[in-house]
Amino acid sequence: MLVLGIESSCDETGVALYDTGRGLLGHAVHSQVAMHEAYGGVVPELASRDHIRRLIPLLRGVLTQAGAHKGDIDAIAYTAGPGLAGALLVGASFAESLAQALGVPALPVHHLEGHLLSPLLADAPPPFPFVALLVSGGHTQLMRVTAVGRYELLGESLDDAAGEAFDKTAKLLELGYPGGPALAELAQRGGPSRFRLPRPMLNSGGFDFSFSGLKTAVLTAARERSLTEGEKADLAWEFQEAVTEVLATKAFAALDHCRLDRLVVAGGVGANRRLRERLDAAAAGGRPHVFYPALDLCTDNGAMIAFCGAQRLLQGERPAGTGAFGIRPRWPLQELAGA
Ligand code: KG4
Ligand code: ZN
Repeated sequence: MLVLGIESSCDETGVALYDTGRGLLGHAVHSQVAMHEAYGGVVPELASRDHIRRLIPLLRGVLTQAGAHKGDIDAIAYTAGPGLAGALLVGASFAESLAQALGVPALPVHHLEGHLLSPLLADAPPPFPFVALLVSGGHTQLMRVTAVGRYELLGESLDDAAGEAFDKTAKLLELGYPGGPALAELAQRGGPSRFRLPRPMLNSGGFDFSFSGLKTAVLTAARERSLTEGEKADLAWEFQEAVTEVLATKAFAALDHCRLDRLVVAGGVGANRRLRERLDAAAAGGRPHVFYPALDLCTDNGAMIAFCGAQRLLQGERPAGTGAFGIRPRWPLQELAGA
């Protein structure tokens, strides 16, 4: 079964073809970073218009990569939420109308479920059950995953998500947009210094997170006096230490709590090198075992959406096929639990 995946929830247009027998056959992403850069963040209306421009050329490219034709597509999966309403509508209407034209089912997919299952696209995927650490721009969650569609929330951020904290702190340090990767790069040039930031909720005993205070602590440190480039790097280093220490500690505590020894990391912050270093160091010796998506599948992409849709179809899920569809800009992942 050949499944086309369409992702357009934010500032990346992703299109991919996943075959349930042969795996990922084609995958392309267009990032809108250059377009939004001048504004210091995502401009929703510009994002929607750009998704419209990109979808057809990306689809053509992916069909060529896969050596396939439109008529070979058996189903279309698209991100129906959460995300920017206008951006989601572009992908949803594109997917639903193409599905009507081809006479194939269109399946709305939850963006976070896509991230969550993306490590299963690897050559040696983790078997169920596992604990998932989902760290994206909008969400930070720890989940016990027992099967496709079976997600139990263990804890989540009570305020800013980890990626959001990276982005906001990067803005404070005038690193521009998108901030996360830029801050991580700056941190590589820094090291231990007089800066000491809190490790929020590290010893709370539960699995919730709080990252908004860190950004304020960085602001206070940065306001004391104007920072040299070296001091900025040291502050970025300390910030990254604080976030990754809390994430890694809680992820391993969640494994203990669930008596599981497989951790799956997904979402944009999963690309962070220091986070991977910490998790791998703690998992040295092979137990627990930590699984990551390929780096290009950590951030938003169509492959995870195609894969997620394929899993749901394999489980027997069938869309109503009425041609009516909706999007869910706000859509808690827990609503899928047990679905
Ligand atoms: O999963 P994602 O592509 O989009 C959402 O669904 O939110 O995640 C994007 C987030 C952004 O906040 C970005 O700054 C962060 O992931 N990010 C990183 C790194 N690469 C992306 N944060 C820290 N270090 C990185 N290397
Ligand atoms: Zn995402």
